[in-house]
Amino acid sequence: MDKLVRRLLFSVDPERAHDWALRCLDTAAWLGWSNGLAAGTPDEAVELMGLRFPNRVGSAAGIDKNADHIRGLTALGFGFIEVGTVTPRAQAGNERPRLFRVPDRRAVINRLGFNNAGMDYALDRLAATPSDAVVGVNIGKNRDTPMTGAVNDYVQAFERVHGYADYVAVNLSSPNTPGLRALQAGDALHELLGELKARQRRLANEQARYVPLVVKIAPDMADDELVTLARALVAAEVDGVTATNTTTDHASVADARHGDETGGVSGAPLMAPSTAVLARLRAIVGPQLPIIGVGGVLTGEDAEAKRCAGADLVQVYTGLVYRGPRLVREMRGSMAQPSTHPE
Ligand SMILES: Cc1cc2nc3c(=O)[nH]c(=O)nc-3n(C[C@H](O)[C@H](O)[C@H](O)COP(=O)(O)O)c2cc1C
Repeated sequence: MDKLVRRLLFSVDPERAHDWALRCLDTAAWLGWSNGLAAGTPDEAVELMGLRFPNRVGSAAGIDKNADHIRGLTALGFGFIEVGTVTPRAQAGNERPRLFRVPDRRAVINRLGFNNAGMDYALDRLAATPSDAVVGVNIGKNRDTPMTGAVNDYVQAFERVHGYADYVAVNLSSPNTPGLRALQAGDALHELLGELKARQRRLANEQARYVPLVVKIAPDMADDELVTLARALVAAEVDGVTATNTTTDHASVADARHGDETGGVSGAPLMAPSTAVLARLRAIVGPQLPIIGVGGVLTGEDAEAKRCAGADLVQVYTGLVYRGPRLVREMRGSMAQPSTHPE
């Protein structure tokens, strides 16, 4: 990124900088300045989960919480855009400040807590913004919904978004909604996946439209927990898995400014642990199940490493904060190469 732009953005509050950057992106797309970046080559396109992705690089959930920036992100060259996390009802999220840069580690800590304008708003935006990219919607539960009602929140969100999303990502791994990660195991997981798959099949019959279900997992699991979860995901016949969300392990940032802020760590320190989870996941589930790799990508080589570890698609968030839009092209360049991961 142009050093001046980066300095400007880093001089203001991170949430405000995020909003400015996305608004500039939308304006650039509207003026046609960035539209050329989206042009791909046919060999970049890939078929997965019954969808055609123009390329393998996606914008990770959290960048566009309310589906306001699909046009700008498409023009930037992403092959897929995951909007959300969207919850059934609007909610404000945690108190500010809740987003922190840790520049000397090229990391970010966030405890946003699913701030979003709610499902009605997101559906309006999705309906108003057709895109050449694949558009997934990441869904979650409202904070004030008790855990006994969590399944209902996800099912409701899935049913409502069904007509608007190319795929739905089920977020079970944000560290900033109390109790959410408990849904990654045991009866809670079993019940949730059973209900979602039942709805998916019923809606596919009624509306002649199959919407793939992808489950997004955390990087902070013991190996036996990951094995159990991966087997449950295969048994439930989910259509894909995203590995991973942010980590609650702050060891890599502990001695840095803001390192002690509560929240999930993303960016460079997440690359190794997240890719290790991805590789382990691939080994457990075998070659068929589509995996979206995300966590710590700051260069084209990082994206390639995710692919070698077993990712079919790769997403990015924090890398954009530190490297800017050029990272998308860099990732696409390295992802267009044939992978060593057996498909
Ligand atoms: C500020 C911020 C907000 C995020 N919000 C969400 C979210 O709403 N839902 C979600 O599934 N992941 C969310 N994430 C996690 C990212 O999608 C991604 O999994 C994680 O940041 C690791 O990728 P990265 O190192 O490229 O940032 C968020 C991450 C950041 C930094």
